[in-house]
Amino acid sequence: MQRVDERAWPSYDHVDPHVTGAEFHRALGELAAQSWLVRGSMGFAVLDREAGNAILRDRRFAFPALELLELQGVTEGPIWDRNADGLMVQTGEDHARLRRQLAPAFTPRAAERLRPQLRALVEELWAPVQDAGRCELVSTLAEPLPSQAIAALLDVPGDAPLLARWSVLLQEVFKFRLHEVGPQVEQAYAEVRAYVGDLLARRREAPGEDLVSVLAAGEAITDDEAATLVSSVISGGTDTTTAQIAHGMRLFAEHPDQWRALREDPSLVDRAVQEVLRFEPITLFTARIATEDVELRDVLFPAGTVVFVCAATANRDPEAFEEPERFDITKERGSAVPLTFGMGAHYCVGAYLARAELAETFRHLAPLTPDLRLDGEPVLGPTTGIYAVESLPLSW
Ligand code: HEM
Repeated sequence: MQRVDERAWPSYDHVDPHVTGAEFHRALGELAAQSWLVRGSMGFAVLDREAGNAILRDRRFAFPALELLELQGVTEGPIWDRNADGLMVQTGEDHARLRRQLAPAFTPRAAERLRPQLRALVEELWAPVQDAGRCELVSTLAEPLPSQAIAALLDVPGDAPLLARWSVLLQEVFKFRLHEVGPQVEQAYAEVRAYVGDLLARRREAPGEDLVSVLAAGEAITDDEAATLVSSVISGGTDTTTAQIAHGMRLFAEHPDQWRALREDPSLVDRAVQEVLRFEPITLFTARIATEDVELRDVLFPAGTVVFVCAATANRDPEAFEEPERFDITKERGSAVPLTFGMGAHYCVGAYLARAELAETFRHLAPLTPDLRLDGEPVLGPTTGIYAVESLPLSW
């Protein structure tokens, strides 16, 4: 069997990370039509939905967080330790045990319980701009909402700015800037540890229904483990949701017929969320590393091979989705699941909460902004890492 690195594959290095939006999808779509696997300088990328699914479900492939740290020259110390203990790096039974601790706080019912608070938060963020008829959506709503939602999840309503600051610092691990901001990141981990320790003590005394009360009531869990889980939630639940809300609102501003359809039939909101997640996934590439030799489709992936699973192409696979290049919230899309929240053991724990935040945003804004449109060019972030929207001027 041929090794993956010994075969000729199309290169995706010419897909410039600053080429975004429809042009990015076009370039990747062309590559996906040629080959299920392509080669780039950072690793191989799997463009095919079925192969991507198989890799994400395969326990022999792990999330390469520690390898990313090594590439940045970090091999020990608090940042290394916190990541080595983190949810994304755990595998097998260790991972399953930590997921069980979180699970009760992230059920559909738990997300429903937060709905009234999410609704009130969206209303509060939107009220100051409604009469102006225009706003920059990221700073107005997409950025503040997710940290406020996590504050609601932790039942610490006043602390959203603190959580937002930590989320930015914890995300630095993936941004290759640790040589500059390493000490601040270490400080953030220490602060989260102290904060969660304090919350645990309070919740053990007077439990509620919040995430830390759930952790305190679960199987034996150490304060360190609880702090690591809360760090994973803060880091995983903020930038991601900000980017997805902003891309969603951009899509609606660009597709007035779809916004009208939602306004005329608010019961389409869950389908609208699903279509936004499918059409513009903000986690374009999910990284994996082979922990042992793996054979897939007559190709050998030797241990240590880095592979990126591409949600952008998987979510537009014509075998799974009819007319995949069309953004259409009214279309019955069947049971195929987009890869936006990943797949398998590490499937996004916050998926129901994220969906609720998206739904409450679209539900509130659709009737208030009937003639929504772009009020200038949106500024989209690079397609590596979380695919952000840096600025989204809207008017209505
Ligand atoms: C639209 C918003 C979101 C998107 C697109 C998203 C996407 C993802 C993806 C793709 C993964 C899997 C990564 C992998 O397998 O390598 C993941 C995992 C995770 N997400 Fe999300 N996420 C979102 C929102 C949230 C929210 C709101 C939270 C929590 C409040 C959250 C917490 C997490 C955590 C803790 C993990 C790690 C799960 C594990 O390792 O078992 N995410 N997310």
